Amino acid sequence: MMPAACGTDSNSGDNSGTSAAGLSDSFKANCASCHGSTGNGGSAPSLRGYSRNKISFTTQVRNGGGGMPAFSAETYSDANLTVDYTWLISN
Ligand code: HEC
Repeated sequence: MMPAACGTDSNSGDNSGTSAAGLSDSFKANCASCHGSTGNGGSAPSLRGYSRNKISFTTQVRNGGGGMPAFSAETYSDANLTVDYTWLISN
């Protein structure tokens, strides 16, 4: 798999739900309803350009909190989490 390139898909209001190049289908199924179809925010904060480490990301996803439900690895796998974390920190 090619790593997502920086700089070619910057924040340009692409919230149509069809252009989230690097996000997993599982993100679209489990996260997009609150965080936006491209992770750009909605009822929950934007995750684009996420600046904390992967442990913080994982802890929030697995434990939930602050109005967010917890997601088990059965619902949202570690592999999908890694794909989405990697994309969000650089987009
Ligand atoms: C029901 C709505 C909802 C869903 C679904 C949801 N979240 Fe959240 N999420 C939130 C809210 C609200 C917050 C803010 C929590 C806070 O401020 O403490 C949040 C916070 C986060 C944060 C921390 C953001 C930060 O700036 O530190 C991450 C990471 C995150 N969510 C990832 C995900 C992922 C990945 C999924 C899908 C597996 C997901 N969320 C699904 C509502 C949701």
